[in-house]
Amino acid sequence: MQDVTDLPFMRLLAGYGGPDLYVTEYFRVTPDSCLDAATLRSITENETGRPVIAQMIGQDIPALLRTARELERHPVAGIDLNLGCPAPVVCRKDAGGGLLRQPERVDEILRALRGTIQGRFTVKCRVGYADKAEFPRLLEVFQKHDIQMLTIHGRTVRDAYKTPVHPECVAMAVQAMTCPVIANGNVVDVPTGAAYLRRTGAAGLMIGRGAIRNPWLFAQLRAHWEGRTAPSPGRRDLLEYVHRLYEETAAFHRSPCPEKQVQKMKRYMVFISTGIDEGRFEHRIRRAAAEDEFFSICREHLDRDEPLPVRPPVESSVFCGFSALD
Ligand SMILES: Cc1cc2nc3c(=O)[nH]c(=O)nc-3n(C[C@H](O)[C@H](O)[C@H](O)COP(=O)(O)O)c2cc1C
Repeated sequence: MQDVTDLPFMRLLAGYGGPDLYVTEYFRVTPDSCLDAATLRSITENETGRPVIAQMIGQDIPALLRTARELERHPVAGIDLNLGCPAPVVCRKDAGGGLLRQPERVDEILRALRGTIQGRFTVKCRVGYADKAEFPRLLEVFQKHDIQMLTIHGRTVRDAYKTPVHPECVAMAVQAMTCPVIANGNVVDVPTGAAYLRRTGAAGLMIGRGAIRNPWLFAQLRAHWEGRTAPSPGRRDLLEYVHRLYEETAAFHRSPCPEKQVQKMKRYMVFISTGIDEGRFEHRIRRAAAEDEFFSICREHLDRDEPLPVRPPVESSVFCGFSALD
């Protein structure tokens, strides 16, 4: 995830169990782009012990081919094309989720990339641009090319993050595709992860925001499937996680001053603080400016022996619609 799942975050996550496979933040691809140095470090310095796939976003075919070749000179487990980003600035340029409006263009891009990428080629998509009725046509296009994995964020681009996911679309893709299909969107705990797999038959889950909020989530899911006792972190464990995230990301990005680092932490805290103390933690942390103020708010809400809320509240503005997965 852009500006979030960078190398220090991947490292930290690995310490809590981590996923089986990582995907980088996307590399922006334009006719004159070059590989972003910080994102490249997620590949060249990946010490998680798990493979990492490099993701690209763009629509210019020669530039995508050049970038894929450059990326394949590094130890990547595959190259992924982003067909899901809903950011208006991206969609206006017919990249990311914007490309889903043009299945013929997607067809052309996939053909060119498949002809160039030597190793694994994977796609991340949504279930349509404006309507999930577009999805069968998109699946026809994806099926034509020898892709090794299709990850589906089960919403349309227009849905952004506001609606429940559509597990029936992911289930349709599982039936249609010969490659593994990965279900994504609103997995926040073990029941939502288990339900998404049960309702779709997907080969696996991709987890984004839920893992920022709860880095133990991968270990909890593994424990569930292996019949072991799952880790049940408390508030103090979350406080320690916030401290480590602060230190690791500050060191990596060489934060020029603590105030900047506090602002950077807010990208993570939106997800971490949600649902704790009826929104008071989130409200206060949004307004923190200085480092000591930031940590004092964190201590006030987290420095005690109490279990964490298992999932965000249903009315949470950053995690909507997950209850549809139960
Ligand atoms: C801040 C942020 C940045 C994101 N950046 C990317 C990205 O670079 N590439 C990508 O494929 N998806 C990106 N996404 C989308 C997520 O990968 C995921 O599809 C979406 O958040 C739904 O899954 P979740 O509910 O598990 O978070 C981003 C999401 C957020 C919230």
